[in-house]
Formats: sequence, C-alpha cells, structure tokens
Amino acid sequence: MNKLTIRKPDDFHVHLREGSLLRNVLPLTSRVFKRAIVMPNLDVPITSIDLANQYKKQIIEIERNKSNFEPLMTLYLTDNCSLKILEEGFENGAFFAAKLYPANATTNSELGVTSAKKIYSVFELMESIGMPLLIHGEVTDEDVDIFDRESVFIDKVLVPIINRFPNLKIVLEHITTDYAVRFVESNQPKLGATITPHHLHLNRNALFEGGLRSDYYCLPVVKSEFNRLSLIKAATSGKACFFLGTDSAPHLREFKESSCGCAGIFNAPYAIESYLDIFEKEEALNLFESFASINGARFYGLPLNEDYITIEKTPIKVPLFLDIQENNKIYGKIKIFHSSQILNWKVNENLDN
Ligand code: DOR
Ligand code: ZN
Repeated sequence: MNKLTIRKPDDFHVHLREGSLLRNVLPLTSRVFKRAIVMPNLDVPITSIDLANQYKKQIIEIERNKSNFEPLMTLYLTDNCSLKILEEGFENGAFFAAKLYPANATTNSELGVTSAKKIYSVFELMESIGMPLLIHGEVTDEDVDIFDRESVFIDKVLVPIINRFPNLKIVLEHITTDYAVRFVESNQPKLGATITPHHLHLNRNALFEGGLRSDYYCLPVVKSEFNRLSLIKAATSGKACFFLGTDSAPHLREFKESSCGCAGIFNAPYAIESYLDIFEKEEALNLFESFASINGARFYGLPLNEDYITIEKTPIKVPLFLDIQENNKIYGKIKIFHSSQILNWKVNENLDN
C-alpha cells in the first residue's frame, strides 16, 4: 500500500500553550487535525468560563481564514472547583470536558487536585450532566516508584471513582502500561484511553541512550519494552476504547536542556507519520483510521469528520528543531520528536482532497 486516504483525524489530547508559542505550534496541529482537545495547564490554568473563552478566542483568531480547526476546551479541576461554573460552562459549550491533574504530577499542575475524594461532588455532577472527565493517571506519593505511578493510580484512585460513579465518562490519558491497557479494556465503554506516538516508539532505555536524554523525558515517563509492546497491540487493535491523543507538549530548548528539564515531547509536526510507522510495522494500516478518526469521536459522541486526508509512502527527513518566531525574529527552538530520523509516510500537503 503506497497511499492511504482517511477521514481527517482528531487529536484528543494536545498542549498548544499560549501567546507566541501558540502562534508557532498551532498551525502544525491544525493542518492535519480537524479537532483537538486542548489541555488547560497554562501558567494561569483554565479554571473559569472567561479564561476558557479567552483562550479559545486566541486559538480561533490565529486560525481565521486558514483552517476549519475546532478547539475543544477543557476546565482545569482544583480542590475548590465551583459546581456552578462547571455546569454552566459545560451547558453553554465553554468547556468540552474537565481535566484532573493530581497536584504536582506534571507541568503546571501545582493547583491540581490534592485528593480525588475532595471533588467527588464534582464527579457526581459531571456524571449527571454527561461531562467527560480526563485524567492524568499518576499518583505523586514519594514512596511510589516513578514507574509504578500509573498502576498505583489505577488501583488506589481510579477504581474507587469508577465504582462510585459507574456512568461517568472517563478518559485515562496517555496510557503507558500493559496494566492500564487491560484495565481500560475491561472497563469500556465508559472508560477510554488516549495513546501517544512517543509511548509507542520509546521504552525507558531511550532515556539513557549514550547519555541522559531529556528529549525523551515526558510524563508519565516511558516504560519497559514489555509495556511498549502492549501499547502497540492496543493502539493497532482497532478496539473502540483506544484512540489518538498526541500529548504534544512543546518546551523551549533551554527548558528541556537543563539540570531540571521540563517533561514533554513535541510531536505535533509529524504525529501522523509517527503513528503510521507503528501501524505499518504491525501490518495494521487498515485500522489506522479507526484509531485516528473514528474511535475517539464515537467515544465523545461527536460527528465523524467529513473531510479526508491522504498520506503517501514517501520518505521524509525530520528536521532537528522548529524555530519559534516573533515579529519575524527567531527567539527560540523546540526539538521535534524523531528529529534527524527518516519517516516513511508523509501527509499530503494538499490536505483538502
Ligand atoms: O510530558 C508531559 N508534558 N506530560 C504532561 O502531563 C504535561 C505536559 C506539558 O504540559 O508539558
Ligand atoms: Zn498532556
């Protein structure tokens, strides 16, 4: 197969940042994805209807007359989240979903939730109004090994939530373990999961290949080869509970290359090509459309996209960096996932066919 035409995909988990970073990275997402769930962990997190609307406006302004990209905004949950704001924002379309960051689990999560039990009344309301809960599924207890954070979260936090709120629609974001794969499979259809390109390509050896590789540091951290292979099986299975969410998370070079580098991998420029490399190796190209363009939309009750994209088997060399510009001046760089590697597929530039 040398050409693949599929419904235009959606990215159900992306970090677009704000200001000039947003202006520079957004076009790389909007050129291939029709819709994206936009994460709310900005420096000032999206905790109100006004903040969500302002952020959405920034995004739409950049895309005006360029694409028909549709951002789906999220509310950042805190211990003190107002039920009124959550309900009003969901009902009037300001929020598409709410995101639970356990406090201090990742970038800009300091204001996240210190204990899920504290916001059970929020989950109860979300269950009753049909608002999806998106979860960064890691515990932060110091006595839990970083590689076990996800499985301990499932046992200690997620199981009680699911037992208490059986009709709450939940997405376990960027899953990284076989344990999560099996848990999601046995709790569908109310539970779904996104899978990133980097967790499909990298195992934990990548973090230490010839030195300390901050480019491969993300959260949840990449896991063992056994877990990576299980994620590949899940993503390429065609099963409805697994869908595309890149977790593309741009950080300027100086914040990655540091003695305390930020977590996040910027995969937006070649995300589709990256996923396709995995699907091709698994001889599952025929199931890529389900993963990229159908399963997530069905899970969220969204209409399937009516546009199509074509991806061709053409080798491309991934550049090292994306230059970040402001007023025609380059002021920073972001390392691109797969930089300097050759990928075998390329999204057709003429996207409207
Ligand atoms: O690697 C990550 N980067 N994981 C997250 O959960 C957040 C993200 C970011 O915002 O940088
Ligand atoms: Zn994320």
